[in-house]
Amino acid sequence: MNTERTEYDAVLADPAGVAPREPMRVLVAGGAGYIGSVVTRLLIAEGHHVTVLDDLSTGHADAVPSGVELVRADIADAGTILARGGFDGVLHFAAKSLVGESVSDPAKYWRTNVCGTRALLDAVAEFSVPRLVFSSTAAVYGEPDAIPITEDAPTRPTNPYGASKLSVDMMLAGECAATGLGAVSLRYFNVAGAAWGAGERHGTETHLIPLALDAAAGRRGPLTIFGEDWPTPDGTPIRDYIHVADLARAHVLALGAATAGRHLICNLGSGQGFSVRQVLDAVTNVTGLDVPQQVGPRRAGDPARLIASHERARAELGWAPQQGLADMVRDAWDFAANLANR
Ligand code: UFG
Repeated sequence: MNTERTEYDAVLADPAGVAPREPMRVLVAGGAGYIGSVVTRLLIAEGHHVTVLDDLSTGHADAVPSGVELVRADIADAGTILARGGFDGVLHFAAKSLVGESVSDPAKYWRTNVCGTRALLDAVAEFSVPRLVFSSTAAVYGEPDAIPITEDAPTRPTNPYGASKLSVDMMLAGECAATGLGAVSLRYFNVAGAAWGAGERHGTETHLIPLALDAAAGRRGPLTIFGEDWPTPDGTPIRDYIHVADLARAHVLALGAATAGRHLICNLGSGQGFSVRQVLDAVTNVTGLDVPQQVGPRRAGDPARLIASHERARAELGWAPQQGLADMVRDAWDFAANLANR
């Protein structure tokens, strides 16, 4: 029994963890990335058999836990793995996910996120894999008319990233109806934190919490607040932050909830909103350090306020978030400190 196994046992000892279920054989596409590597750890802890497929374009080989097979290949080559047979499900995280880059290089987003997923779905159908869980995003909604955002809200993505994810959601609806696949699209709001030794390690970091932590630690210069003239109480945008461990639990539940011929869409957020300034305050509270900061112009395409309704995830998956903003900041802080000391 290695040290990682001991960490997994701690996950399972958590009485609020996911209920035990029959072990499944699953392919995790994008399992060397931030969220995929956390979900892989939970799947292993729950006794599932995992193969990771990742081209390592943004993921890290050492994010895949020891003992888990990593196949370094494009998602378009998923068929070579699924052809082995016996897979009960695919979790699909493999995607390009930078909003700004999707505006400057949209072809990359259509090619990877849409064409790549199409190839994956062809292999899923060819080798009769019964379930698929897809990483969708709140970016499919664009600027919302009403808060909290339900899954029935209009989908009006404001950038190619959101549009590419919405296209896959639509593709999955047709796929389930036509082939009997059981699929769940999980629309993530703002994912943060770290869990079980895995966390955020992006080559190009654009997310608020890791940037604020690095600024507080002096690992980078002052954080730029993208506008303080928004129609919110303190003038900075409001987002719904969700702990990556809570997100991971939702994936394992979704895998179990996938039903033949049905496409289920669930938002994943805490249902609570925090402004940029409230997040920076949380960073100071957790770390005891000020976050050096400056105010800049608004970032193009940023909505003022995004908060999820997670009632459907609660009803359909039996899921509820268990961790708050301070937990996310603390876990991200510990993870970044470990990384810096390596
Ligand atoms: N922000 C700053 N300064 C920074 C970085 C971010 O002020 O240096 C602000 C942003 O304006 C925003 C908030 O912090 O108001 C959160 O920004 P992030 O970049 O961390 O996250 P986003 O809300 O832009 O986007 C995230 C994911 C997307 C996903 C979206 C859905 O990155 O993939 O949530 O809610 F589509």
